[in-house]
Amino acid sequence: MDSDGDGIGDLNGITSKLEYLKDLGVTAAWLSPIFKSPMVDFGYDISDFFDIQPEYGTLEDFRALIKKANELDLKIILDFVPNHSSDENEWFKKSVKREKGYEDYYVWHDGKVNAETGEREPPTNWLQYFRGSAWQWVEERQQYYLHQFAVQQPDLNYRNPDVVAQMKRVLRYWLNEGVAGFRCDALPPLFEVRPDVQGQYPDEVVSGATEDTEDRDYLTTTYIENQPETIDMVYQWREVLDDYQRIHGGNSSVLLIETYSPAWFTMQFYGNRSVDGAHLPFNFNLITVMEESGLSASNVQKAIDLWLQNMPAGRTANWVLGNHDKRRAASRHGKEHIDAMNMLVMILPGASVTYQGEELGMTDGQISWEDTVDPWGCNSNPEIYEKYTRDPARTPFQWTNGTNAGFSTGSKTWLPLAADYETINVATESETEHSHLKIYKSLVALRRSLKTLQNGSTKYAAITEDVFALKRSLSGDASLVYVSNFGTADVTINLEEFDKTLPASLQLLVRSLESNKKEGVGYATQDLLLSAGEALVLSTE
Ligand code: GLC
Ligand code: MG
Repeated sequence: MDSDGDGIGDLNGITSKLEYLKDLGVTAAWLSPIFKSPMVDFGYDISDFFDIQPEYGTLEDFRALIKKANELDLKIILDFVPNHSSDENEWFKKSVKREKGYEDYYVWHDGKVNAETGEREPPTNWLQYFRGSAWQWVEERQQYYLHQFAVQQPDLNYRNPDVVAQMKRVLRYWLNEGVAGFRCDALPPLFEVRPDVQGQYPDEVVSGATEDTEDRDYLTTTYIENQPETIDMVYQWREVLDDYQRIHGGNSSVLLIETYSPAWFTMQFYGNRSVDGAHLPFNFNLITVMEESGLSASNVQKAIDLWLQNMPAGRTANWVLGNHDKRRAASRHGKEHIDAMNMLVMILPGASVTYQGEELGMTDGQISWEDTVDPWGCNSNPEIYEKYTRDPARTPFQWTNGTNAGFSTGSKTWLPLAADYETINVATESETEHSHLKIYKSLVALRRSLKTLQNGSTKYAAITEDVFALKRSLSGDASLVYVSNFGTADVTINLEEFDKTLPASLQLLVRSLESNKKEGVGYATQDLLLSAGEALVLSTE
């Protein structure tokens, strides 16, 4: 929400809409980076980790936001971006000049000399996420620096204890401002492998995943991602949070980890028998498994297995449907499945994470090459930018069917609106009797009121190629059953084959938008007709 008409959302805008979050029933909100930044990567390039970006507001505005959130009993989580800073950060400027104490704040290297041409070359063939080399030459210092993201996002050097200490200061600084925890950004590239005794780094080998030599996937990332030191750093941050609470009292705070890594790496972030790590390493399986092989009942089962079967005992699971880096869930899975997916995320055991707008069923914006602002898109070309750009999921939030979807009173918004804002928006969906928003709210209400969803056991199965079923049960309480038809044809199913203990009839609690069934009515367990795309939450009571 934009409060000052510049077309860009801001802190006062958020404060003015906290009641909406409260009304949804969510308990915490994560803000993407709000710190001082030249905005090359929309705040993920931070020039001052201790100050607020002026277009978002001031520290006073932030304090007002926290105050209001506290009044509403909402927790505010900030984005912690440890891997890199902006090249406009004072630390980087000092490092370029080799100022005392900052010489090794970033990952610098002389590069190599090509034996045939005699010309200077980057130290390795490493590629950045946003396409192209991960090394940049700096004339002034006569060295290359590493940037796993954009050129303007130099990687901090975590093998320097001063950097480690500095970033812990960042955590404490914002804890002091009353935040409830952090979403830790981009963990895989935090550490790179140590250079050899000659100070040389190894090249990555060709992966075979793509022919495009600029694309990060062209090479493996064995030496530049998922190093053991990264796991240990998260344990250290957890200690910072726990120590803070020990010293200052108050509530414990939370660590969420962004990592698209294989399970063997991701699960270590939770900690182990002797040490605590992050509370929640994000579980992106509901995104990534479907990205690879499409939406089907068996892929949903696979995504859930992948987490629950690998998670260490005694930890909490979590379910994520979307974020600002991925296509909108409604566009990715098909509009007709957005309720089915929101239901899943709410009914599976553990924490549920919703990207703003998924509760409305917002879809991707159509952003032309000319309007593209995401560096990942801009670093490609008009032919292929749609594969890379993350702008479509970042269009303004849709509050109303009016001008700028009620997001801004300005003449222009920072990205164009998505086309369907006239029907997909908070005001319209609040007025209509049945809407994605109302479905979402009833799901949150169930989560918050039913012990079965909070503590119950979980059973699930792809009962046909198209139909997925899930049951939560707690002894002494009614069980809940979720069923979804991800196929394109109507089917009749017998849920007794899924679970023999189910009663003959199940009462409908929540139904997807296009479903013709009725809440409160009982439906036959042995003979349940599910139309294409239909998803239901039923109770044994
Ligand atoms: C994370 C963020 C993404 C950002 C990148 C670099 O993946 O989610 O938006 O571009 O890190 O900080
Ligand atoms: Mg604004």
